[in-house]
Amino acid sequence: MSSFNHTKYRPFTPVALENRTWPDQEITTAPLWASVDLRDGNQALVEPMTVEQKKEFFKLLVDVGFKEIEVGFPAASQLDFDFVRWLVEEDQVPDDVYIQVLTQARPELIERTYESLKGAKKAVVHVYNSTSTTQREQVFRLDKEGIKQIAVKGAQCVKDHAEKNPGTEWVFQYSPESFTGTETDYAVEVCDAVIDVWQPTPERKCIINLPATVEVTTPNRFADQIEYFCRHVKNRESIIVSLHTHNDRGCGVAAAELGLMAGADRIEGTLLGNGERTGNMDVVTIAMNMYSQGVDPKLSLGDMDRIVSVVQSCTQLPVHPRHPYAGELVFTAFSGSHQDAIKKCLANQTDDKAWDVAYLPIDPMDVGRSYQEVIRVNSQSGKGGVAFALEQEYGLALPRWLQVELSPIVQRFSEEDGGVVKSADMKRLFEESFMTASAPYALGNYELSKKDHDSVTAELTHKDGSISIEGEGNGALSAFTTALSNHFGIRVDIVQYQEHALTNGSDSQAIAYIQANIDGDRFNGVAIDNDIVSASIQAVLATVNQKVASTNEQANVA
Ligand code: KIV
Ligand code: ZN
Repeated sequence: MSSFNHTKYRPFTPVALENRTWPDQEITTAPLWASVDLRDGNQALVEPMTVEQKKEFFKLLVDVGFKEIEVGFPAASQLDFDFVRWLVEEDQVPDDVYIQVLTQARPELIERTYESLKGAKKAVVHVYNSTSTTQREQVFRLDKEGIKQIAVKGAQCVKDHAEKNPGTEWVFQYSPESFTGTETDYAVEVCDAVIDVWQPTPERKCIINLPATVEVTTPNRFADQIEYFCRHVKNRESIIVSLHTHNDRGCGVAAAELGLMAGADRIEGTLLGNGERTGNMDVVTIAMNMYSQGVDPKLSLGDMDRIVSVVQSCTQLPVHPRHPYAGELVFTAFSGSHQDAIKKCLANQTDDKAWDVAYLPIDPMDVGRSYQEVIRVNSQSGKGGVAFALEQEYGLALPRWLQVELSPIVQRFSEEDGGVVKSADMKRLFEESFMTASAPYALGNYELSKKDHDSVTAELTHKDGSISIEGEGNGALSAFTTALSNHFGIRVDIVQYQEHALTNGSDSQAIAYIQANIDGDRFNGVAIDNDIVSASIQAVLATVNQKVASTNEQANVA
C-alpha cells in the first residue's frame, strides 16, 4: 500500500486542439538560439557568478555562436547592472550579438533596465508578468483584466523608453510567465494586447516567449498549447514565437523539440541545463540531437571539454558523467558485447559513409572525445575491448585466438585492482604473459640454410651460459621447432600463426603471434623484431620458455 496520497493532485487540463499538425512535422533547421545562462541560470545558483565568472561565461557563449544572450536582470541586481555596463562601455559585445536583459513589467524597473543599456548597439528588452490562474488568484489577487493591464502598461513603458533612446537597435520581448499554467486562450489575449502596443512588422518583429516556467504536463500537451497559440495569436508573421522550457518532469528538451514542431521559431535555454529547480532546457542536448539527425544546429559545440569546464567552474555545479553528449562516460562502453559491436562498426566506418556505429549516436571525435575513451575495460568487459585498446594505442592487431587468451588475464587484474584497466596495464599484462622470448632462454646468433630441407643452427643463451641447437624442417619455423624439440625432449606443434607490420612508432618492425601445442598443453608466444623470421622464431621460443618455466615450477613444488 503506497503511503503517497495521489488524490492530493489534479491532472493538467489540456487545451482543446483539433487536427493538430505538429506530430507530422520534422525539425529540419536550427531555431534562433538564446542563452539564459547568465540570467535564469545565474539566478538559480547557490552562489551567483562573480563578474569575472560572468565575463568568462559570456566569452564562451559568444564562441559557441549565440547571437542573443540574456546577460542579467540589471534592475534587480547591482552586479548584473555593473556587468551590463562593462559589456557596453568596454565594447565587449560583437556587432552581430544582441544582449538581452530581463525586467518585470514595472515602470521603475524598466527605467533602471534602460539605464543599464545606455549606449548598447543591439539589445533585447525582455519584459514579463505572471498570467497563470495560481498567480492571478493567490499571488497578485487580480482578475484577468488586471493582469492583462500589467502587461500592456509594461509594454507601453518599454516602447516609450526605446523611443527616447534611438541610438540602440531595440527588440522587444514579452513573456506571459507561467504560460503552461495559464488558460491558453487567455495567454493569446494577453499577448495580443502587448502586440497591439508594440505594433511589430515582418521587418521589425517582436519576440513572444512562452515559458514552461514549471513543466506541468507531458510534452505532447505542451506542443498542443504552442500550436494553439501559433494558430490564434494575431499578426503571426510579425512575431518570433520563442520557447523557454524548464525540466520539472525531466522533459525540458522533449517539450522544446515538440514545441518547435508545433511552430516555434526560437529557443531559450542554458548550456548543460543549469537553471531554476531542475534547470532550464539544455541547449547542448537539443542542438546535438539535431546534429545527430543531419541538421546543422548552427552552434559550435565541438570543444565539449571547454564547455563542461567553463560551465562547471562558473556555476560550481558538477556535470553528471552520464549527461547526454557531454558526460565523461557517455561514449564509453564497458560491456563486452557492446565493445565488440563498436569495434566492428568502427572498422567499417569510412569518411564517405553516413555515421552508422552501434551504441554511438554520434562520432565522439565531433565533440573532441577520442576513440580511446570509447572502450573502457573493467571486469564486465570482453575480449573486444582489450583488443580495441591495444590496437588503438599500440598498433597491436591481436588475432582472435589470442584475444580469447588475454581477456581473462585482464579481467582477473580488473577484479583484483577493482576498476577500469588502463591501456598501459593491458600492454604490460600482454607482454608479461606472451612476450617471454628472453628468459629462461634468449635467442643469440642463428643461421638458416636450405639444401633438401630448411635447416637451422641457433645459439640460445641462458643465465649460466649458452647452448647450441639444430634442426631441420619444411621452412624456418618448422626447422627451429624441431631444433627445440630435439634439445628439450618435448614435442612442439604450431597450431596458430599470425604476423603483421607494426605501424605505431616503429616503422620497420614486425610482430609474430604463435600458439603452440607443447606435449599436449597450449602456450601463446609473441615477439617483435626487425624481420619477420626473427620475430617468428622468437615467438616460438617464447612458448617453449613458458613450457620450461612451468615444468621448473612444477619440479620446485614437487
Ligand atoms: O521560467 C520563466 O518563466 C522565466 C521567465 C522570466 C521567462 O524565466
Ligand atoms: Zn525560466
